[in-house]
Amino acid sequence: MEEELNKIKEKCLNCTKCALSKTRNNVVFSDGIPNGKLVLIGEAPGYYEDMKGIPFVGKAGQLLDKILDCVGLSRKNDIYIMNTIKCRPPNNRDPEDFEKEACREYLDGQLSILKPKIILLCGNIALKSFLNLPYGITKARGKWYDGPYGSKMMPIYHPSYLLRNDSREIGSPKWQMWQDIKEIKKEYDKL
Ligand code: URA
Repeated sequence: MEEELNKIKEKCLNCTKCALSKTRNNVVFSDGIPNGKLVLIGEAPGYYEDMKGIPFVGKAGQLLDKILDCVGLSRKNDIYIMNTIKCRPPNNRDPEDFEKEACREYLDGQLSILKPKIILLCGNIALKSFLNLPYGITKARGKWYDGPYGSKMMPIYHPSYLLRNDSREIGSPKWQMWQDIKEIKKEYDKL
């Protein structure tokens, strides 16, 4: 699995298919363990990710690690993390459709090798890249959908949204995330 992933990574690191290749410092390919069980797909690299070449290492990433840790999950042992697009859009703007299209071969390539049992779609950009629903993340989160390679997919809130919504009251986004991560862990434990 690692060898096949490295082949795609090599190609991705040299990619010049869209203009983001001109402004990036690093291609942000993935982090975590490729064990074919659990994959999280985020949006796009931000400033810190672009500087380090590793996904989810800024504030949102630190919160993501904390959330995973609450149920005993970690990048080291359990989860493979990647983004919908691999290069940072200037000023963290949303990725354009043609950028997502250009990058799609890497995302699909990663999934075709990993064939994960569970895919977490983290935020609206990832959600819309995989599911054609008439509603967004607020309504889609917390439910299981059929994904590629027989996987189960669950949309979840992006941690940067949780950083902007700090309440832990029942029904708040953070509370909902807590319900979702417990459900995800329950499914993961069955694998
Ligand atoms: N947000 C994302 O969606 N991905 C990252 O890697 C960092 C922040």
